[in-house]
Amino acid sequence: MRILSIESSCDETAVAIADTLTRTILSEVVFSHTEAMKKFGGIVPEVASREHLKLLPLAFHEALKKATLSIQEIDWITATQRPGLLGALLVGVSFAKATAFANGIPFTGLNHLEAHLFSPHLENPPAYPWIALVVSGGHTELYKVENLNSYEKLGETLDDAAGEAFDKVGKLLGLEYPAGPKIDQLVANEVEARTVHSFPRALPNDFDFSFSGLKTAVLLASKKMESGSEKEKVALLASAQEAILVPLVKRIQKACTEFGISNVVLAGGVACNSRLREKLPKAYFPKPKYCSDNAAMVAMLSVLYQEEGKLIPSSFSETAIAR
Ligand code: KG4
Ligand code: ZN
Repeated sequence: MRILSIESSCDETAVAIADTLTRTILSEVVFSHTEAMKKFGGIVPEVASREHLKLLPLAFHEALKKATLSIQEIDWITATQRPGLLGALLVGVSFAKATAFANGIPFTGLNHLEAHLFSPHLENPPAYPWIALVVSGGHTELYKVENLNSYEKLGETLDDAAGEAFDKVGKLLGLEYPAGPKIDQLVANEVEARTVHSFPRALPNDFDFSFSGLKTAVLLASKKMESGSEKEKVALLASAQEAILVPLVKRIQKACTEFGISNVVLAGGVACNSRLREKLPKAYFPKPKYCSDNAAMVAMLSVLYQEEGKLIPSSFSETAIAR
């Protein structure tokens, strides 16, 4: 069976096609809205919806072309249905339903966080059980994963997501959106700069996270900068990066100890971070293109659902859900 999958939950318009028999991705296309969002310094939901409207037909045709398939050769269409930006999801789900209905193919709506969570299956996943952290611009959620049918959320952020914290701290210091990758690059070799400022490293409750205090702390510290030199900025950024990453690592380690689980999986855009990778040398990190939003992970989730007999057609009256 060939499954075409659509991802449009945030600011990436993506389409991928998977073959269930061989468990392979036949084609994948990702159009990021980064350029469109730069002038706003962050994601504007309305702009994301409009970008999806413009880019989705292009991504759809390119994915079919790359796989040398026609829509008549597609057996099933899936799309990210939740959670995400409502307008953005609505474009993907409506496109998927309309294409499925017009071609007499079933449609199934899937969960974006599940797609991230099981994205290691795109390559070589470690054996279950996993402690898994989905960490992106929209999410910071810790899970205990037994398998596709059995997983539990242990904790989540009470305010900002870790990626959002990277982006907001970077914006305070004049970096373009998304600031996460730029901070990563700028401070990669700045070992001493990491300890110049002792920013808050909140560890609320058992497994939750909180990053909103960091922004204020960085803002206050930036106002006290003497010259605003590159060195002072790097010290702020490296210390802030450490304050974001240390709680992530601590929570993962606590969960591993408490549940006696040694296999750790990371997913989401922040999982691209080189310092995080350095801090967790034994953890499983998907390759960067599968950390950030993509449709291949939605296609792979569809394959896993199909294998488990869980790929059930959704009703065409189903719609996008923000949470
Ligand atoms: O998963 P993603 O592409 O989109 C969603 O937010 O759903 O993640 C994007 C987020 C942004 O906040 C970006 O700054 C952050 O991931 N990010 C990074 C790195 N690469 C992307 N943060 C820190 N270090 C990186 N190398
Ligand atoms: Zn995501």
